[in-house]
Amino acid sequence: MSDSDDRRLQDSAKRHLWMHFSRLGAYDAADVPVIVRGSGSYVFDAQGRRYLDALSSLFVTQIGHGREELSAAAAKQSDQLAYFPVWGYGHPSAIELAERLAERAPGDLNRVFFTTGGSEAVETAYKLARQYFKLVGQPGRYKVISRQWAYHGVTMGALSLTGVPAMKAPFEPMVPGAVKVPNAHFFRAVEHADDEQAYARWAADQVERAIVMEGPESVAAVFVEPVQNAGGSVPPPPGYFARLREICDRHGVLLVSDEVICAFGRLGEWFGAQRYGFQPDMITFAKGVTSGYAPLGGVVVSDRLAEPFLSGKASFSHGVTFGGHPVSCAVALANLEVFEREGLLAHVRDHEAALGSTLDRLRDLPLVGDVRGAGYFWAVELVKDREGFVRFDAEERERLLRGFLAPRLYAAGLICRPDDRGDSIVQLAPTLISGQEQFDEIEQGLREVLTEAEQLL
Ligand SMILES: Cc1ncc(COP(=O)(O)O)c(C=O)c1O
Repeated sequence: MSDSDDRRLQDSAKRHLWMHFSRLGAYDAADVPVIVRGSGSYVFDAQGRRYLDALSSLFVTQIGHGREELSAAAAKQSDQLAYFPVWGYGHPSAIELAERLAERAPGDLNRVFFTTGGSEAVETAYKLARQYFKLVGQPGRYKVISRQWAYHGVTMGALSLTGVPAMKAPFEPMVPGAVKVPNAHFFRAVEHADDEQAYARWAADQVERAIVMEGPESVAAVFVEPVQNAGGSVPPPPGYFARLREICDRHGVLLVSDEVICAFGRLGEWFGAQRYGFQPDMITFAKGVTSGYAPLGGVVVSDRLAEPFLSGKASFSHGVTFGGHPVSCAVALANLEVFEREGLLAHVRDHEAALGSTLDRLRDLPLVGDVRGAGYFWAVELVKDREGFVRFDAEERERLLRGFLAPRLYAAGLICRPDDRGDSIVQLAPTLISGQEQFDEIEQGLREVLTEAEQLL
């Protein structure tokens, strides 16, 4: 791209583009990072500079960038039937994709409701839980439980489930009956900090406490991610999900696994619940289902939950125009084929230990307090003082994460994400085709930038 085209794009972006979750004022003095092209695990900006996409863009591009078979599948579907709704109709790509997802989902999760993305998927699961209980004669069950710091999306229902106070404050009041419980974050355990099993029991029991406090007859569902993103790729302590399932069953509460990030190979399985061996009543998905080549999300629903909607005049009073879009579904089918042909689930399982141990090398840096994750879903937690894992205060986080790390990591050619929704972390989620070369690049880039960051404090 010529310098003048680049300048024009910059000016236009600053004047017209409303970037999501961004401080637009920050671009008065800085350029908007404009990415123009991608290939494999790398993306390129307008000047042709190369960046390692160590976040799969936004936990999305599982199979990497520039895969022509997915663009070809989109073009073919578009030629044949560019759009038709799934409101009272079917079309082959949505039908076939629903079948493929049901085959891969655990247990009796056999029915798929398509949306266009993750927030709508969570919103759908929330509303489905409520209507289900009305249909089965338990209309008092409307409350939902989720975990502190968890991010579940931006629509009002999904935002109410989200456990990040600062994200909700501008839009309060939230939907009534959205209750928060502590998350299962062993690194920051205040109870049973020396015993992971006991901690897992404690963390799951917090959900039971909340159910009992609220009154079980008023609680519809618990929403959890297999590995929680916000707070920094927080894997569950051993036994947590088995106990959570028992608790939900004891109180007749639905268990929803929010897998907008954790599905489609991110944890080395089709679905995150399979990694931890638990059976949800619903799984929400989005992002990796198409590797980002077209927008799509949805909910995989158990036969038991679908059953009251299958007869008589019952109907789920819910739908979105572009849910199950034919082109997105065709792209998702082609994406699943790539997963299978290239053995990507096994690739992640075979390489996750190498990714973990490569990132572990960063523990020699004074700023690094923890390195954690699973599959290709990792976080490096930054601390002010490793003795006691002291957190940064708000002013330090502002200076370190937003002021320094975000622009500096980008300048170092690394797409990853400094985040302080919970603690101060750098999130990493390489494309599922990445290997040791990319792991080393991530480690070297982070090492260089975090070493410079030490001077700042
Ligand atoms: C666990 C989880 N749920 C829901 C969402 C919302 O998805 P979307 O941004 O596609 O609306 C996200 C987005 O990152 C997520 O990580």
